[in-house]
Amino acid sequence: MPPEFIPLALAQDQDGVRRVVLGARAVLLRGFARECAPELVAAIDAIAVVSPFRHMVTPGGWEMSVALTNCGQVGWVTDRTGYRYDAIDPATGRSWPAMPYAFADLAAEAAEAAGFSGFRPDACLVNRYTPGARLSLHQDRNERDLGQPIVSVSLGLPAIFLWGAKRRAGKVRRIPLIHGDVMVWGGPDRLTFHGVHFLAEGEHPSTGGYRFNFTFRRAL
Ligand code: SIN
Ligand code: FE2
Repeated sequence: MPPEFIPLALAQDQDGVRRVVLGARAVLLRGFARECAPELVAAIDAIAVVSPFRHMVTPGGWEMSVALTNCGQVGWVTDRTGYRYDAIDPATGRSWPAMPYAFADLAAEAAEAAGFSGFRPDACLVNRYTPGARLSLHQDRNERDLGQPIVSVSLGLPAIFLWGAKRRAGKVRRIPLIHGDVMVWGGPDRLTFHGVHFLAEGEHPSTGGYRFNFTFRRAL
């Protein structure tokens, strides 16, 4: 039976994974990354040593309040010329740090648990939020094959994820996300508008005053 036909109550209990169904092919896997979270958090500094966090500028000229870096074969970047994936980090002129195998495996397992088999990410965007930072509603649409899902892991301070519609002006749901939560969306939900509400002040035992988000994508 395709995942879109699994009733909510049944889906939540299957294989011990707590699922919150947000759409036909969009699901929140509660705490899916909690166990490997320490490994993910530990990798952040190693990534940032090679490719530091920076505030990029949107094509419209706005500096993003979220700081970002990437690991993987290619990284997502934005500047005055537009959004794109680039094999070279524009800040260093060198390759992005490699994506740790454990990351790619986690992303593939999360995708599988959400009904997307064979996901092999080649890009991992790492977002860093400080209190007050936000991400306005957008679609992830710079990837070559929109048949591949998005796998998004939350670490550190809690946040309110904004889950909208296929149109920017559509209804927006507010989904509280905490450390270790994983969102997966694809198929007919792949181009859903989404964002993150202003981060609230706080202190998290593993990330201090930050929230991090790892977004895994098959970009090429
Ligand atoms: C994103 O959409 O790029 C990030 C989402 C998040 O931080 O949870
Ligand atoms: Fe996004």
